[in-house]
Amino acid sequence: MRHPADGAALPASLLAALRAAVGDAHCLIDVDLRATYETDWSRRFHGVAAAVVRPGSVDEVAAVLRACAATGTALVPQGGNTGLVGGSVPRAMAPLDAHGAPRPQVVLSMLRLRELEPVDPIAGEVTAGAGVTLAALRDHARRAGWDFGVDMGSRDSATIGGMVATNAGGVNVLRHGSMRQQLVGMEAVLADGSVMRRLPGLVKDNTGYPLPALVAGSEGTLAIVTRVRLRLVPLLAKRAVALLAVDDAGQAAAFAAQLRRSLSSLTAAELFDDDGMRLVMEHTGAEAPFRDPHPRYLLVECAAVSDPTDELVTAVAALPSRDAVAASDEGGRHRLWSLREAHTESVNAAGVPHKLDVSVPIGRIGAFDLAVREAIGAVAPDARIFIYGHVGDGNLHVNVLGPDPDDEAVDDAVLGLAIASGGAVSAEHGIGVAKVGWLERDRGPADVAAMRAIKRALDPENLLNPGVLFSVPGR
Ligand code: FAD
Ligand code: MLT
Ligand code: ZN
Repeated sequence: MRHPADGAALPASLLAALRAAVGDAHCLIDVDLRATYETDWSRRFHGVAAAVVRPGSVDEVAAVLRACAATGTALVPQGGNTGLVGGSVPRAMAPLDAHGAPRPQVVLSMLRLRELEPVDPIAGEVTAGAGVTLAALRDHARRAGWDFGVDMGSRDSATIGGMVATNAGGVNVLRHGSMRQQLVGMEAVLADGSVMRRLPGLVKDNTGYPLPALVAGSEGTLAIVTRVRLRLVPLLAKRAVALLAVDDAGQAAAFAAQLRRSLSSLTAAELFDDDGMRLVMEHTGAEAPFRDPHPRYLLVECAAVSDPTDELVTAVAALPSRDAVAASDEGGRHRLWSLREAHTESVNAAGVPHKLDVSVPIGRIGAFDLAVREAIGAVAPDARIFIYGHVGDGNLHVNVLGPDPDDEAVDDAVLGLAIASGGAVSAEHGIGVAKVGWLERDRGPADVAAMRAIKRALDPENLLNPGVLFSVPGR
């Protein structure tokens, strides 16, 4: 058996303290048991954990943090491990202590915190443990006649804690906002083991700094989220989906804007290209939705209390698209959605992708879509490019297959162009370890200095996810 100290040794006293905190069965040091916690979903990022600990309560999380703080051990929080920027797995190069020695990394798996309280039917809110999956939360809300405002393809594995930590977006942002907008309260453990708790479910609360909003999107670098209070949205059970064939991404954005104005029930406006659709069809065996191929596709969905099919079909017919199909039955809607949602797994099945999630001013999305293909071609002429995303939010996912995982030329070309286009290097996946070199180029020195000051105040020993967001030493 490979010794767990392949990364950096775990002091015996710490191992004993971790076992005392979570129980022997939930402190994993065997190499086979640790393996799935050490590599990310895309397989591009991996490292060695000295141990994986699986606390079952907020008190156990606090005990783990106190034990790690006492020994200067780095903690890598992990939920469903569906993150796409390498932030949920140990660093390939162990973080160093003040003397330059490698620090052990402990993965803190939050999957056992899966308590879901009953839905509050008057407030339209629910309190959920960090380890509850998005699908479990959504089903729970729907059984109570409500719905959850965030949805995305990783719903069966992504956890509420991970989604808060990344401020996840997904397919309904244009209607309901991203994860931060759903937060009504939070319980979280700070690096020293103290617990911040504010869960009364107050819709309005201007009492001091909005700490939950700060923790949202902090990618496990400021606090460990253990429970959150979430707002729910009305359950709009009648749905209709349309797929439009379009000339280019700019036309898709213009059509999406037109539909936002004409359809109050619009919940999603998604984009993909023909190479992506072919890849999905090869991977899943799906049938082509149109007789002929088209350059780009725009998928739109409406949801309402009463059937939105007629208004969707009328609005789509008014647009000069190349072709269009619509579906309102569950099977048909699912078939159209799969063409978009299966992109992530289809790309992953074809290789280890460079996944570049960028934000672009919506009006420049057409120009960016063309320019980024040229920029990639200039540094990696043989690369395969698949661009899809949430066009209604100006969020493109530029996926590139071909270059080695460690070759960053393509990443630099895409992220540089995003900034030059007035965009941002992350729209919804975060910075993680994948884009640390880009935080300051995007946000500027004053913003990053303020962020580092917050990090130092809350985590002075840099215990929480070192190497994520900030370059080494990250404090
Ligand atoms: P993890 O991957 O385990 O962790 C993500 C980050 O959060 C890491 O930095 C980790 O350290 C930190 N973290 C995890 N739990 C906690 C906690 N309790 N407290 C503090 N920090 C924590 N993302 C989108 O935004 N929109 C999409 O549409 C979308 N679609 C996806 C589709 C697929 C098929 C896949 C594989 C991924 C997709 N993602 C999407 C990315 C991913 O699902 C999200 O980033 C998600 O929010 C991660 O949740 P997780 O529980 O898997 O977190
Ligand atoms: C998506 O929108 O499909 C996700 O963010 C995942 C991805 O970028 O592949
Ligand atoms: Zn996305």
